Amino acid sequence: MFLIFLMVACDSSDVTGEDNNNSSSNNGSENNEAEIDGEKLVIGFSQVGAESEFRTANTESIKSAIEDAGHELKFSDAQQKQENQIKAIRSFIAQQVDAIVLAPVVETGFETVLQEAKDAEIPVFLADRAVDIDDDSYWVTFLGSDFVEQGKNAARWTIDEFEDHETDVNIVELQGTVGSAPAIDRKEGFEEVIEDHDHLKIIKSQSGDFTRSEGKEVMEAFLKSEGENIDLLFSHNDDMAIGAIQAIEEYGLTPGEDIKIIGMDAVKGAFEAMIDGKMNVTVETNPIFGPQLVELIEDHFAGEELEKRIVVEEGVFTEDEAEELLPSREY
Ligand code: AHR
Repeated sequence: MFLIFLMVACDSSDVTGEDNNNSSSNNGSENNEAEIDGEKLVIGFSQVGAESEFRTANTESIKSAIEDAGHELKFSDAQQKQENQIKAIRSFIAQQVDAIVLAPVVETGFETVLQEAKDAEIPVFLADRAVDIDDDSYWVTFLGSDFVEQGKNAARWTIDEFEDHETDVNIVELQGTVGSAPAIDRKEGFEEVIEDHDHLKIIKSQSGDFTRSEGKEVMEAFLKSEGENIDLLFSHNDDMAIGAIQAIEEYGLTPGEDIKIIGMDAVKGAFEAMIDGKMNVTVETNPIFGPQLVELIEDHFAGEELEKRIVVEEGVFTEDEAEELLPSREY
C-alpha cells in the first residue's frame, strides 16, 4: 500500500419502500423516544444514481445496513439528476419519514429543500458527498471520503512516478460529474500538490461524468488532439479509467506503459486492470460505510451529539500489490 490516511476527527412514485403507516412523528424528541422504545425508524435515502462500481456497492451497503438493522427504507435513485433528488426529499418530507440520508449529486442548490426538511424537524445525514452551504445546522453529520486528500495522494504518486522524467509530463484529466464534491475536491487536491512541480502539466481536462462510456469518449477526443504526447491519465474514478483504457488500446497505444493511468475508488475492475498491466494505481474511495451510517443515525436518535464530519478510512493501491489484494476486495 503506497500510503494510508486515517479517520479524523422524484417524484414520489420514484421513491420505493413500504408506506410509513406507523405513527412515527417528524418531531425530533418524539423520534428519540421511538428509537429508545425499540421501534423501527423510517429512513428515506436519496442516492446519486448507478453510474459506477463504487455507487452500486455504496447503494447495497446502505440499503442492507438499514434493512438489517430492522428499519424501514424508502429508496430513491436520482439518476444523476439534482431535480430528482429535490423531488425525492420533498416526497420523504410529505411521508413524514424519521430521517433522510442524502448523497448529493452536486454541491449547490440544496438550501431550500434542506430548509424544508429542517422546518419539518427531520434530521438529514449526508453520505459520501458534501453540499456547499456554510450553515452546517442543515445536517446532523457528513460521513464520507476526504476527496481533497485523495487528489493529493494521486499527485504524490505522480511526483514519485515521474521523479526521473527529464522533460515535461503531459497529464490529461478525466473529471467527475461537473459541480460534484468529488470532482471539485479531487482536482483541487491534485493541483495543490503538483503546483510546485513545473514539469507536471495538465494539458487537457474534461468531465466524463464518472461513467465508463463517457470516459472512453472523452479519452478518444484527448487522443485525437494530443495522441502520443500524453504521458499520464488522471481519472477521477476507475470506471472512466477503464473506459479510457479501451480508447487507448483502440488508438494503438499500450495503457499502463505508453500512458500511465491513475484511477480512483479501488474497485475490483481497477485491480483486474492493474493485474493486466493496463493501469498503475488506484486511490480508494470506500463505499462500505452503511453499517457505520446506521449506527450514527441510531446514536442520534438515542440523543448522542455527533461530530459534524466523519471521514472514512481509505488507502492507495499500486499495480505491484494488485494480485495479492484482489481476493480480499469487497467491491
Ligand atoms: O462520490 C464518490 C464518487 O462517485 C466515486 O468516486 C465515483 O465513482 C462515483 O460516481
